Amino acid sequence: MRKAIIAGNWKMHKTADETVAFVKQLRSKLESANPSCEVLVGPPFTALQAGCEAADGSIIGVAAQNMYWETSGAFTGEISPGMLTALGCSHVILGHSERRAYFLESDDSVNKKVKAAQENGLIPIVCVGETLEERERGETFDRVGRQISGGLDKVEVTDPERLVIAYEPVWAIGTGKTATPDQAQEVHAFIRELLVRKYGEEGGSGLRILYGGSVKPDNTKGLMSRPDIDGGLVGGASLKVDDFFGIIQEVS
Ligand code: PGA
Repeated sequence: MRKAIIAGNWKMHKTADETVAFVKQLRSKLESANPSCEVLVGPPFTALQAGCEAADGSIIGVAAQNMYWETSGAFTGEISPGMLTALGCSHVILGHSERRAYFLESDDSVNKKVKAAQENGLIPIVCVGETLEERERGETFDRVGRQISGGLDKVEVTDPERLVIAYEPVWAIGTGKTATPDQAQEVHAFIRELLVRKYGEEGGSGLRILYGGSVKPDNTKGLMSRPDIDGGLVGGASLKVDDFFGIIQEVS
């Protein structure tokens, strides 16, 4: 049985103080709610330490939104995996479509980051997804298939709980246009098939595949009721405690 994950991707939002206030509020709501899913918040780099400290001892895990694959060195502006684990981060979001579009990340660089995350004990959340043009041209499976095979090239799975995939159709991110549960399930099932082929029945069926793209409290239940949708990567609705908590409650 795969345990669902609800992960917030805060993008370039919230200072350290705002992060602490958010985590404190969420923490007190979660204490009485006892949710059945894993809960992650994803503050920007500058608020990770504050977020980890505020979440310490609770069920809330902290994810970084990116990292570089090298351990240390002359890489101005970059952050290493070890710097994230030293703060207490458990997860790292990799290959988000905004990083691919604005910062030219490729499947190859995502692949290097996935391996470096695993070597350093971080759980990667690997994002894949097609653009609207690709969907309209009938290239969704092709695009997502290449992102999975490139991003996970020579990536091993010894514990299926320690690698997470997020399917995020680019046309659904920040647009209010969620994929229907059928549209999402169709791609999730395709990804599942690729993962089972790569990692065997046990490995592939144990991996969590999250859906991302305009997830809100009122569309969560429909999406999460589908067999291959194991949680959500939430952007806009993860910035307000009530909305984010509402999504967690819909899953529980
Ligand atoms: P959104 O973002 O929920 O605001 O659409 C999701 C994401 O980019 O991870």
